[in-house]
Amino acid sequence: MSLLIKNGRVVTATDDYFADIYVDGETIVQIGKNLTVEADRTIDATGKMVFPGGIDSHTHFDLPFGGTSSNDDFRTGTIAAAHGGTTTCIDFAVQNKGESTIKGLDTWHKKADGVATIDYSFHMIVTDMPVERLPELEKLAEEGVTSYKLFMAYPGVLYVDDGTLYRAFRQAGDNGTRICMHAENGIVIDEIVREAIADGKMGPKYHALTRPTRMEAEGVHRAIAIAEVANVPLYIVHLSCSDALDEVKRARARGVDVMAETCPQYLVLDQTAYFQEGFEGAKYVMTPALREKWNQDVLWKGLEFGHLANIATDHCPFCMKGQKDLGKDDFRKIPNGAPGVENRMSLMYHYGVVEGRLSLNRFVELTSTAAAKTFGLFPKKGTIAIGSDADLVVFDPERKETVSVHNAFTHHMNVDYSTYEGFELQGWSEIVISRGRVICDQGKLVTEGGGQFIKRARHGELLR
Ligand code: URP
Ligand code: ZN
Ligand code: ZN
Repeated sequence: MSLLIKNGRVVTATDDYFADIYVDGETIVQIGKNLTVEADRTIDATGKMVFPGGIDSHTHFDLPFGGTSSNDDFRTGTIAAAHGGTTTCIDFAVQNKGESTIKGLDTWHKKADGVATIDYSFHMIVTDMPVERLPELEKLAEEGVTSYKLFMAYPGVLYVDDGTLYRAFRQAGDNGTRICMHAENGIVIDEIVREAIADGKMGPKYHALTRPTRMEAEGVHRAIAIAEVANVPLYIVHLSCSDALDEVKRARARGVDVMAETCPQYLVLDQTAYFQEGFEGAKYVMTPALREKWNQDVLWKGLEFGHLANIATDHCPFCMKGQKDLGKDDFRKIPNGAPGVENRMSLMYHYGVVEGRLSLNRFVELTSTAAAKTFGLFPKKGTIAIGSDADLVVFDPERKETVSVHNAFTHHMNVDYSTYEGFELQGWSEIVISRGRVICDQGKLVTEGGGQFIKRARHGELLR
């Protein structure tokens, strides 16, 4: 199967020009002006932009969490991602405490194998790491799992102590792999939560009010210090606030290899979402929580100036009915997480590019290239170049749509609400191509399945 995309404005993290792109099989083989080659299908991209397929390096499909499981599995989640212009996800496999990480990886392969529509890869969530298990981390790297997430939050569930952090960090550094960190002081937060409950504070807003930004900043500070001593590249996930970003900036200024992602929700939503009537605030119960609005400007500046390196969604959807309502009388029982894998590209285009906060090149870098480079997918993924996978998005920069759970063009996630309900956004993915296969066309899924597991390279290595 061959594909010719004609007359598009081709935008990568570094380039911006008008050209035709010829795809043979799964790969980009020619880029040039007025290509005359014959193709099985020709797409006229006049007036459109052509971006590298989006890479969302933080998703949770079918994650057992909070007494239930996130409601998108690898079938529905990757279909929704595709509609939104994302052609690769890096999901988080989980090690059950006391069990092997290799078993956790196997479980995640079984969840994804044969059902994913876009390509995918895995980080490994490490929930314990006694000395005798350390060699597993090298085995994981050989299997293409070259990053691990550890948690300072959620005591009794995913939390690990500082000794475990240090052990895993040391080994990951030796193996040429990267540490992803959920940085929040969960031990202190649990004490604050205990006090709130004792005072009868049970509603969703107390999820936010019991998680001060200082406790995130403390986690970031501690993770950086441990990573610095252990000599491992560090990546802070879902950074939500100015206090935490200050810690990243300070460390980078003294030469520590630390980078951080933020998520669209921290850029466009704020703490007032919790103060709505009734149980509505449960839609936004996620960790870290949404912050006071002034933090948004600081995060946007962080993206513009490079202190923040990547945008991922932390997509972890739970329905209001039957899942979030487990916590209708007690915010501790509301499953933590919110949907967003489908909305990332348009949110970032609208609030970033259209509203003048990001250049087009920086938009592409933040939605695709940075994740590819950080997590060992580049140059196979994350750019438009000869020899790269033909993961491409034909994007209409003028199209306006209102995000809604009721709008069939904007909502394919398997969840009964939208985090961004009623947002009118400019800029939408119209044709989405994964390794040369057109998978979405004008909001319709035209190819289901066919997504492949991608073994990622180690830190500093290229993937071809
Ligand atoms: O609330 C969230 N973020 N749920 C997903 C798990 C995590 O901490 O990333
Ligand atoms: Zn987390
Ligand atoms: Zn997460």
